[in-house]
Amino acid sequence: MKTVRTMAELRAWRGDVAGTVGFVPTMGSLHEGHLSLVQRAVAENDVVAASIFVNPAQFDDEGDLAAYPRDPERDAAMLHGAGCDLLFLPTPEELYPEGYETWVMPGAVAEPLEGASRAGHFVGVDTIVLKLFLLVQPTNAYFGQKDAQQVAVISTMVRDLNVPTTVVPCPTLRDADGLAMSSRNARLGPAERAAAPVLHRALGAAADALAAGERDAEAVRARMRAVIEAEPLARIDYVSVADRITLRELETVDPAAGALLSMAVHVGPVRLIDNLPWTAAKQEQPSASDERVARVTTKEVRP
Ligand code: PAJ
Repeated sequence: MKTVRTMAELRAWRGDVAGTVGFVPTMGSLHEGHLSLVQRAVAENDVVAASIFVNPAQFDDEGDLAAYPRDPERDAAMLHGAGCDLLFLPTPEELYPEGYETWVMPGAVAEPLEGASRAGHFVGVDTIVLKLFLLVQPTNAYFGQKDAQQVAVISTMVRDLNVPTTVVPCPTLRDADGLAMSSRNARLGPAERAAAPVLHRALGAAADALAAGERDAEAVRARMRAVIEAEPLARIDYVSVADRITLRELETVDPAAGALLSMAVHVGPVRLIDNLPWTAAKQEQPSASDERVARVTTKEVRP
């Protein structure tokens, strides 16, 4: 695997590449969830590039940016092991030099949920993803459904700005106890780590209520809140039962259309998100067919 740090080196690499290019953008501190995207990209493309860049523009909280875990050497070894061909590892100054002033403004799909909780987050995401797409010029780009709204916002940007890249959504990988893998999990203390699967349990309770015939979205939200409020270390940011396309809150769940069940919950100092797409046709439970529980122990994926 080749590692490049400048845009000039990346463009030179891209100029020499033939065939399809798969791309996996990340913020590093990699885990099995990230590697599952790389493995899929390797299976579906002639060459694969990944990027590691903790993008300051998508953080609304300086403390969160400063605390974001970073381990590029370990990450590079993991990417190499997964069959990645190129790693782009730029500095903030390389991508946002002095005088940088152009931003991508996403539309309505970026407004609720994460967009409402984290001011400017998706402006930062869309801008960096478009910049990376223009540099890497990927045929296919791989994103995790764990960040369901991110997939929706980026897919909309790609459609609206005629970006010649296919966005490929990929299933959420979880630890054995149901906690969705996340770089942020490394910041959980032992008691917090033990409490963190409460998000997955709450999603499961909501899916159970829907499967049992509950159609009142507020009642489903109440089920999720009750599960989380029973966990003393957890504090709700939001729980949501939303339209799967627009991500707007529903009053009533139409079983044919389904719903995106999602939440953001603080567990100790760490803000975690998780979601579960639900339709009656395929009663998607946590760790059902579109989810994969990794065969690694919690201990192994935490540094
Ligand atoms: P990051 O949080 O590092 O995630 C990189 C990619 O890995 C995203 O597409 C994310 O959805 C996916 N991912 C994270 N956890 C996952 C899991 N448990 N299972 C499957 N996929 C998972 O998302 C970002 O970085 C940034 O916003 C980025 C797109 C790189 C732009 O800066």
